[in-house]
Formats: sequence, C-alpha cells, structure tokens
Amino acid sequence: MTTALITGATAGIGAAFARRLARDGHNLVLVARNGERLREYATELHDRHGVEASVLPADLSTDEGLTAVEERLGDREHPVDLLVNNAGFGNKGRFLDVPMADELTMLKVHCEAVLRLTAAAVPVMRDRRKGGVVNVASMAAFVPRGTYGASKAWVVQFTQGAAKDLTGSGVRLMALCPGFVRTEFHERAGMDTGDIPGWMWLDADRVVDTGLRDLARGKPLSVPDPRYKALLGASRLVPRALLSKASSTTGRKYGPK
Ligand SMILES: NC(=O)c1ccc[n+]([C@@H]2O[C@H](COP(=O)([O-])OP(=O)(O)OC[C@H]3O[C@@H](n4cnc5c(N)ncnc54)[C@H](OP(=O)(O)O)[C@@H]3O)[C@@H](O)[C@H]2O)c1
Repeated sequence: MTTALITGATAGIGAAFARRLARDGHNLVLVARNGERLREYATELHDRHGVEASVLPADLSTDEGLTAVEERLGDREHPVDLLVNNAGFGNKGRFLDVPMADELTMLKVHCEAVLRLTAAAVPVMRDRRKGGVVNVASMAAFVPRGTYGASKAWVVQFTQGAAKDLTGSGVRLMALCPGFVRTEFHERAGMDTGDIPGWMWLDADRVVDTGLRDLARGKPLSVPDPRYKALLGASRLVPRALLSKASSTTGRKYGPK
C-alpha cells in the first residue's frame, strides 16, 4: 500500500485527488485548515474505498502548520509516496487593492509551502528511489495576472528545475497547470465568473485523471486539457500587451454576482 499526502484536500481539485487516489487503493493523509470537514471527508473515503485516511489539520500560511506537515513528510517509518501540493486561493482585487498581508499570505501558501513541503518529502523518496510530487500551479503562470499568476509562475519554474535536478533519482516532480475549474475557489475569493465562457470550464476529476496520467508518463509539466494546450500555444504568438489585457480581466470581475 502506498500513501499520498494532499494539501487542500477538502474541496475542489484537492478533494478530487483524494477521491481518485482512494479509489486506486492509496492510503491518504489529508491536510487543510477545517478539521471537522477533513474528518468527515476522511471517514467518507475510508468507508467507500476501504483505505486508511488520516487527517492533519494545518494552516499552511503559518510556520506552525508548515512544520507539522514537514514532520509528517519526514517520517521514514510511515513514508509518503506521493505529495500533492494543492492548497491555494485567490485574492479579491487588483494590485494595490489587495492588502499587503493578504499578498504575503498568498506567497507563503503558494510558494513557501510548496518549497518547504517538497524539500521535506523528497529526501525520503530519494532514499527509497521512488516517489512523486505534484505541485498544482495554473494556466495563470503563463500570463500576466497579478501576484496570483506570479506565484504560480514560480511554482512552474521551481518544479521544472527541481525535476531536472532529480533526474535519475526515481523521484518525479510535476507542475499541474489547469485552466478554470469549477470548485469553491472563485466564490471564496468573491470573484464573479459570469464573463468566463462555458467552454473554458474544466471538471476537477478530469483534471486529476489527466494530471496523474502525465505524472506516470514522467512529464515535468501537465496542461491537462487540449483546449488549454491550444491556448498556451496561441498565447506565444499573441503580442504581450494584448495578452496582458485579456488575461488580466477574464474571470477577475469582483463584487456581487
Ligand atoms: N479553480 C480554478 O479555476 C483553479 C485553476 C487553476 C489552478 N487552481 C489551483 O488549484 C488549487 C486548488 O484550488 P481549488 O480550485 O480546488 O480551490 P478550493 O475549492 O477553494 O479548495 C481550496 C482547498 O485549499 C485549502 N486551503 C486554503 N487555504 C489553506 C491554507 N492556508 N492552509 C491549508 N489549506 C488551505 C481549503 O481548505 P480549508 O479552507 O479548510 O483550509 C480547500 O481544501 C489552488 O492551488 C489553485 O490556485 C485552481
């Protein structure tokens, strides 16, 4: 039996990872802030799939939370085979509208947590010569899109660089870059998604299926949908100023719906 640790496992893409991995027979360690919701979901996954699902309530924007998850990842007696760094969120507002404390919290959860948890997990995996890390980034990594896009660009660059450094170690690292996915993300951030065309929405379970297939194939970067692969290709041909204008508005309307 292998064990997967998933951050942000109670909703959206993280919950879809937990569902799929439980169905495949992996034991789980579920991480998020809301302990009650974590326990309910762990019980549901255990009852439905018969796997062990333990919970680790932790706020990844705090050193205390990060240290607790680092310690679990460093436990060589109960090694984690797959780490999914998925926890994340959006901030409402454009640059200078967003309080600096919230910008810094985003960098802590999207960048520092990904760095520290990857660094805690990989040595154990490398010694066992097997393991994987999926860092959930975003298509926003490839377009100018505020601190959110910048933090996700960091995730992509970091993951690809570390994956290269670990070539031949038996450990695979992959950045997963979905487009718009129907989750709690936009509602939590108070974003009005009314201007996002229906065809741009992805299903979380499909994103996860494609992402895990790409990880098994050894890809360091996964864009888990042909529509977004085409958009990424096209974006490289579009003038930067136009790209900046389009990307900075789509899906970022704020206020009541
Ligand atoms: N939805 C999209 O369109 C989209 C597109 C591209 C990339 N992404 C990325 O996908 C990832 C998952 O997003 P989602 O759409 O699934 O969002 P979601 O439905 O809002 O779920 C977010 C999850 O992260 C947890 N979380 C948030 N802040 C946390 C913190 N400080 N410490 C620990 N856990 C925390 C939440 O649980 P608690 O509140 O209980 O902590 C929840 O389980 C994010 O990294 C996001 O940037 C999303």
